[in-house]
Amino acid sequence: MAERTLAESLREKVRARPLPRHVAIIMDGNGRWAEARGLPRLAGHREGSESVRAVTREARRIGLEALTLYAFSAQNWSRPPDEVAGLMQLLAEYLDSERAEIMDNDVRLHAIGELDRLPGFVRERLERMRQESQGNRGLILTLALSYDAREDIAQAARRAAAEGVSLDRDALDARLWTVGLPELDLLVRTSGERRVSNFLLWQCAYAELAFTELLWPDFRELELLQVVDDFQRRERRFGLTGAQVAARDRA
Ligand code: IPE
Ligand code: IPE
Ligand code: MG
Repeated sequence: MAERTLAESLREKVRARPLPRHVAIIMDGNGRWAEARGLPRLAGHREGSESVRAVTREARRIGLEALTLYAFSAQNWSRPPDEVAGLMQLLAEYLDSERAEIMDNDVRLHAIGELDRLPGFVRERLERMRQESQGNRGLILTLALSYDAREDIAQAARRAAAEGVSLDRDALDARLWTVGLPELDLLVRTSGERRVSNFLLWQCAYAELAFTELLWPDFRELELLQVVDDFQRRERRFGLTGAQVAARDRA
């Protein structure tokens, strides 16, 4: 009850100030959450999918434009086959169960990554959800699946070369899987790890970074509000001096 009040008052504060347009999250720590409870790792992934629901709902509620979630990396294919299979199953279940919520809340869902490596039953559900939700105009929810940031940059470069386009910054931007998303403002990683693990390498050039010790299954509405609140207290200088930034903000 007390926590609910805290979330409500923080939500009000956060909504009154400029929001990050695009938040990305490295959702880490599901395995450790489960292991700490003597449960199989998959139980942690299942609990983590509850955090996905909660955080997506809050993102929509405060009015974020884009939320990008790192759900499965290309490197994660090397995990034990039963964990990989369990994660794919969970992903399919998530897509089935969230359909109504996504449509009711005007969320546009799509995925980035080496999507052709995903099993057919996941690809089909993703494609169906993408098509159904593409007319929605609320939050853009992007799932990074079999995602590999260096591969994204490489494929963009290959495509530009094949098209005979000289590769300047805009040409690369236009060929990345993230094309069309707003500039990344805030990158969050849970579970106390302080690394980027091959996520949005190009896009995080000027993103604010936030690290929390919380494991992903413990990261919910309030925790999203807290990282956004922290972001809003920062001064982003983009190479300028603090005085220049203050003068610009007064203008
Ligand atoms: C993140 O949690 C989810 C995926 C990478 C799929 P982990 O499964 O990496 O959890 P830890 O890091 O082992 O605790
Ligand atoms: C990063 O987590 C990928 C996702 C959260 C999906 P990992 O647990 O795979 O990253 P490392 O291995 O600790 O770098
Ligand atoms: Mg991990």
